[in-house]
Amino acid sequence: MGTPDELRLMVRKRQSPRRMLHTLGVESVAVCLAQRWGADTDDARNAALLHDVTKEAPDQLNLMEEYDILPCIWQETVPNVYHALTGAAFAERLGYNSDVVSAVRWHVTGHAGMTLLEKIIYLADLAEPCRNGIPGLSELRGNLYKDHDRALLLGLRMSLRYVRERGRPEDRCSAEALRWIAERNPSLACGDEYRE
Ligand SMILES: [Fe+2]
Ligand SMILES: [Fe+2]
Repeated sequence: MGTPDELRLMVRKRQSPRRMLHTLGVESVAVCLAQRWGADTDDARNAALLHDVTKEAPDQLNLMEEYDILPCIWQETVPNVYHALTGAAFAERLGYNSDVVSAVRWHVTGHAGMTLLEKIIYLADLAEPCRNGIPGLSELRGNLYKDHDRALLLGLRMSLRYVRERGRPEDRCSAEALRWIAERNPSLACGDEYRE
C-alpha cells in the first residue's frame, strides 16, 4: 500500500494506456460518488485504481493458481469475471482492507446484498467518461447522484442486456443482484428482473 500516486504508478505498469485512461476515469467517478453518498473516499479511490489491475495479465488461470483461488470458485464464474477474482486477490495480498477487496471482487457482476462501496465501484466502472455508445448509459449517468439504487438497477439491466445480446455466458450473480435490488425498490422494478 502507498500513496495514491504510488498506487497509480504501480497500476500504470500493468495496464495499457487505454486501460489506464479507463482506470483514472473510474477513480474520478468513484471518489465523487463516495463524497456524494458518504462512503470512505480513500477506499473508493483504492478500489477504483485496483479494480482492473490484473485485467491485462496474460493468463488468468495461471494467476488464479498463483493466488490459490480454488477451482470450485472460478468454475462458478464466467471468464470475463476472472480478472475480478485475481484483482481482489492481488489487492488482498497488498494489504488492502476487506471493503476494498470485495469492491474489486464484485465490480463486474454485482451480487445480492451489495455494500455501498461495491455499488460505487460497479457504477463508476460503467459510467466513467471513456465509456460511450451503450444504450441506457445516459439514463444511468443521470441517476448516479440522485438515487444510487435506481442507478444500480439500470446498470445491472444494461449489463445483462449487453451480455445477452452478444450471446455471451451470463454470470448468475448479476441476475441475483438485479432481483435483489428490484425487491428492495419495488417502485423501480419493471418485470425484467424476474426473467430467467
Ligand atoms: Fe473489470
Ligand atoms: Fe473496468
